[in-house]
Amino acid sequence: MTAAGLTAKRGGPLKGRVRAPGDKSISHRALIFGALATGTTQIQGLLEGDDVLRTAAAMRAFGAQVDSLGAGRWRVTGKGGFSEPEDVIDCGNAGTGVRLVMGAAAGFDLSATFTGDASLRKRPMNRVMTPLREMGASFAGRSGGRLPLTLKGGSLGRLVYRLPEPSAQVKSAVLLAGLHAQGGAGVIEPEATRDHTERMLRAFGVEISVEDRGGERHIDLAGGQKLTAADVDVPGDPSSAAFPLVAALITPGSEVTVEGVLLNALRTGLFETLIEMGADLSVANRRQSGGEEVGDVTARGSTLRGVDVPPERAPSMIDEYPILAVAAAFARGPTHMRGIGEMRVKESDRIALMAAGLSACGVGVEEEPEGLIVVGGQGANHPIAGGAEVVTHGDHRIAMSHLVMGLAAQAPISVDEPGMIATSFPGFVEMMRGLGAEIDPT
Ligand code: S3P
Repeated sequence: MTAAGLTAKRGGPLKGRVRAPGDKSISHRALIFGALATGTTQIQGLLEGDDVLRTAAAMRAFGAQVDSLGAGRWRVTGKGGFSEPEDVIDCGNAGTGVRLVMGAAAGFDLSATFTGDASLRKRPMNRVMTPLREMGASFAGRSGGRLPLTLKGGSLGRLVYRLPEPSAQVKSAVLLAGLHAQGGAGVIEPEATRDHTERMLRAFGVEISVEDRGGERHIDLAGGQKLTAADVDVPGDPSSAAFPLVAALITPGSEVTVEGVLLNALRTGLFETLIEMGADLSVANRRQSGGEEVGDVTARGSTLRGVDVPPERAPSMIDEYPILAVAAAFARGPTHMRGIGEMRVKESDRIALMAAGLSACGVGVEEEPEGLIVVGGQGANHPIAGGAEVVTHGDHRIAMSHLVMGLAAQAPISVDEPGMIATSFPGFVEMMRGLGAEIDPT
C-alpha cells in the first residue's frame, strides 16, 4: 500500500474462500490476560494489526515477556502482575488497548503515562477514568479527559458500576481493575455488550457471575483472584469479515466464503440485519473453537431492500454501521439506523464521515444526532455514481467501507490514508484482490 491513497473500481464478480484476520477484541484481551496471569499463554491466530501490536508492546512495558513465534502464534509469559513501565505507553489508534490496559494496571502500585495517535488523543477517556477513580485510582490528564494522561494505581475498593453507555471497553476496565480491588467489582449492563472479557476470564480460571435480572446483565467478580495462563485460539473477526462479505452481496454474480468467523451472538447484529435486507448469507460448519462459536460464512450477490435497524441492536454491530451503510446504498428503499450515537466517538465521527462519503458518491443520506438514514435507490441495485475522493480522517473502517462501495459504483472511489487499514485488517487489499477486486494505488 502507498501513502498516496487507494482507488477501487468496478470489475467482475468476486469469487473465492478466504480467512478473516483474528478478532481484534479477543486479540487485545489474550495479550493482556496472558500478561496478568502466572505462567505461559500460547496464542494462535492473533491479529497482527497495529492496534494489537501496540498492546503487545504495552504488555512488555508492564513486565511480561511477549514473543512472536510467527504467523499469528504468540507466547506471553506473565508474572501474575504488572510492574511500573519505564516510558510512556503509546497505544496508537487503539481505544480498546488503552482503556483495557488502564483498567488492568489500576490495581497495581505504579504510575503509568498513556498516549496515542491524533485520533485516540481526541477520544473520551473519562468513561474509564470515572469508575476507576471511584475505585481509588487517580489520574492527571488533559482537559476533557483526553490523552496523554497519567494513571497512579494502588489499592482499590469495590465498585458496582452501572454503565452509562453500552461499552464493553468500560465494562472490561472495571472488571480488570476489580481483580485487584478489595471486594472485587460488579458491572450492571442495561444493554448487553460483547462478553469476551467474561468468557476469557473464566478460561484463565477466574470465577465470575453473570445474571440476567429484569433484562439487565449483572456481572460480578471477587477481588484477589489469580489468573492462570491458558491457551487462546483467536477466531476470525466478524467486523473484518463484513468487508469481503458485503462486497460480494453488492457485486452481482459473486460468491465469497469467509472461514472461521466468530459467531458470538453479541457480535452478529450485522449478519442479522443483512438477512433482513434479503441478503443471501449462509453459515456452514458451525463449531466451537476456544470457547466461542465459529462458522464459515458465504455471501452471494443479492438484491437488497432497506430496513429499520432497531437501537437495541447497536451494541452487537457498533463497528459495522459504516459497511452496513454501503450495503444500504445498494438497497431498494431507505435504511434507518437508530440509536448509534456511540459512532460519533469511535476512531472518527463515523456518522458524519459516512454521511459525507456517501453523499459525495451520489447516495441520498440524512444525518441525525444519533442516527443515519441511507435513502437507497429507486430500484434494486441501482447505479451508485461514485467518482469521489473520500476523506477518512485516518479511520480504517471508513476507508475499507468506501473501497468496497467503489467495487460496485459507476465510477471509481478513492480513499486517503490507506496505511490506517492495517490497524485492524493487515492484508485487506491483497485479500480483496485475491477475490477479484480491482483496488490499486491512486
Ligand atoms: C470493543 C468494544 C467496542 C468496539 C471496539 C472493541 C472491545 O467499543 O467498538 O471496536 O473490544 O471491547 P465500546 O466498548 O467503546 O463500545
